[in-house]
Amino acid sequence: MLELEHVVKHYRIGGGDPVRPIDGVSLSVAPGELVVIFGPSGSGKTTLLDLISGVRKPDAGKIVANGSSVTEMSRRQADNYRLHDLGIIDQADALFPRDRAIRNACLKLWLTNRRDAERVVLPLLLRLGLGDRLDQPTELLSMGERQRLAIARALALDPKIVLADEPTANLDKRRTGEVLALLRELCSERGTVTLIATHDEKAPDFADRAYQLEDGHLSLIRSDSETRSC
Ligand SMILES: Nc1ncnc2c1ncn2[C@@H]1O[C@H](COP(=O)(O)OP(=O)(O)O)[C@@H](O)[C@H]1O
Ligand SMILES: [Mg+2]
Repeated sequence: MLELEHVVKHYRIGGGDPVRPIDGVSLSVAPGELVVIFGPSGSGKTTLLDLISGVRKPDAGKIVANGSSVTEMSRRQADNYRLHDLGIIDQADALFPRDRAIRNACLKLWLTNRRDAERVVLPLLLRLGLGDRLDQPTELLSMGERQRLAIARALALDPKIVLADEPTANLDKRRTGEVLALLRELCSERGTVTLIATHDEKAPDFADRAYQLEDGHLSLIRSDSETRSC
């Protein structure tokens, strides 16, 4: 479960007016739910995900993830939270290009000192359709394959909360659809809280709920129950 209550984050640069990307955001996401945060570049999507992952501190408000208050975590607790509770899906360019694909997927397992990392991560890579790419240097994979590898890396420790920042930014239309469908399936299969921040107009179709982030506030633009009742 992920809960945000009246979260505020402003940036002050120099003496001018502050930028107010997050200006009173409340949101509750249950296990197995996929929520899309939709907004153009500069609307505050990355700021919102950084607040949830504890990388940035809000000016006000409360963020509770699986019963723990993110806003009150020490630095060490926040590091542990990011390692064990969160699956942060980076953009594909955050992978090590020269390393074999399977090794890129092992990163979080190594951080927890798992010696059998490659064996542990293998079923996930097979699930993501990367079975015949395991030993390829990552730079030889297509962008779609790299994005799936970034998903594998994020999910390797079975996180309860999955955060994806622009996961389809470098993909063509067909690959975008594939990756969004995959995130949807994994969310339902694993019962994760899944949050996707994106400016991709197809993404809300894959969500249980989608919100537009504008002027620091979230407004509901799609909910699955609404769609079903139409
Ligand atoms: N560290 C920062 N210091 C000052 N302003 C920032 C900082 N990070 C982001 N911003 C500003 O906050 C706004 C939202 O940025 P961001 O969260 O990156 O939006 P998005 O991910 O939707 O593109 C933008 O106006 C951006 O310039
Ligand atoms: Mg961003």
